[in-house]
Amino acid sequence: MDLYEYQAKEIFAAHGVPVLPGSVVGEAEQARRAAEDIGGQVVVKAQVKTGGRGKAGGVKLAADPAEAVEKARAILGLDIKGHVTRRVLVTEASEIAEEYYFSFLLDRSNRTFLAMASAEGGVEIEQLAVERPEALARVPVNPLTGVDLDTAREIVAKANFPEAVREKAAEVVVKLWETFLAEDATLVEVNPLVRDPQDEIVALDGKVTLDGNADFRHPQHADLVDAEAEDPLEAKAKAKDLNYVKLDGEVGIIGNGAGLVMSTLDVVAYAGERHGGVKPANFLDIGGGASAEVMAAGLDVILGDPDVRSVFVNVFGGITACDAVANGIVEALRILGDDAAKPLVVRLDGNNVEEGRRILAEAAHPLVTLVDTMDSAADKAAELASAGA
Ligand SMILES: Nc1ncnc2c1ncn2[C@@H]1O[C@H](COP(=O)(O)OP(=O)(O)O)[C@@H](O)[C@H]1O
Ligand SMILES: [Mg+2]
Repeated sequence: MDLYEYQAKEIFAAHGVPVLPGSVVGEAEQARRAAEDIGGQVVVKAQVKTGGRGKAGGVKLAADPAEAVEKARAILGLDIKGHVTRRVLVTEASEIAEEYYFSFLLDRSNRTFLAMASAEGGVEIEQLAVERPEALARVPVNPLTGVDLDTAREIVAKANFPEAVREKAAEVVVKLWETFLAEDATLVEVNPLVRDPQDEIVALDGKVTLDGNADFRHPQHADLVDAEAEDPLEAKAKAKDLNYVKLDGEVGIIGNGAGLVMSTLDVVAYAGERHGGVKPANFLDIGGGASAEVMAAGLDVILGDPDVRSVFVNVFGGITACDAVANGIVEALRILGDDAAKPLVVRLDGNNVEEGRRILAEAAHPLVTLVDTMDSAADKAAELASAGA
């Protein structure tokens, strides 16, 4: 789960990372009180889960409370890369001497953690990484030993932070590491991390991604979920303990087991190229127990996606044998009744496959096409999605 800047900074503050005071408001008029509480110049910042807010006009300086209201009015409702601003953070304006970049992240391809830092922050880091890769230090972090003060000193030195602030910056880096570790984050990014005229180091921006797999260790993280902004289908799937991911194509995908689901995405994408470029619309992993209830819940979610034009159900019968899965599909379609109105391509294989296919053939549901191999089934699903365009 990605957090809003204000949430990231609340977490930073809890771990001793220096941030400026501020408060979040949803209506422009409320910015007056927030600015009065802070006093002096403030900055009004769009709270949306995307970067580049500054460039998009989502970060504005205000000299007094009246101007803060005016700026909040201009920013609320602003569409930043498809994210509509519903709240703004009113925060103290910092005097900025220099802007640095810092992040800790999970480096999946190298199976380790990684620190990235640069004395040239503020700008978009992707751009810096491409144009001047030598200006961005990348230091792998041993997950067993982590980041102590000495390691932090090495990182900021490698990133060319000026001597005068290295020690302070290293202390902040240790606290960012503690944040990363204690909260089970996969990303903690500060851009800019600023040096003010008094040589203090402050996190002016914050981006945190929490690892959902560790949610069970952090019951308090549930409070960070923005129910209003959550995709209703994802919320529905989560409530039923289903792993559902929305994509941007037209073929709905249901499978059992992450590996099978991933390869199903691939074959559908390939097949889609032969049918006008249709792609997977989403995927849902129903896991090991493909009972009628689970299948009905899964189909209900997938068919609820208005982008879906056909559904590919790809199940390999194991502990839950194919006959049980077939009964599950038949029963699910009965439960859904008229709500199921899109063509389904079903491919079953594995344990008790003959019986499973017999059950589906006998049910002869008008929406269901039974196909024996994964490739042909993907092709059929793509063809139906393309025809339904
Ligand atoms: N509290 C603040 N005081 C002064 N300037 C700020 C403040 N917050 C942000 N800025 C300026 O605005 C720029 C963009 O803000 P930032 O929070 O990094 O948003 P984004 O990364 O989405 O553009 C920063 O690089 C900084 O120069
Ligand atoms: Mg930023």
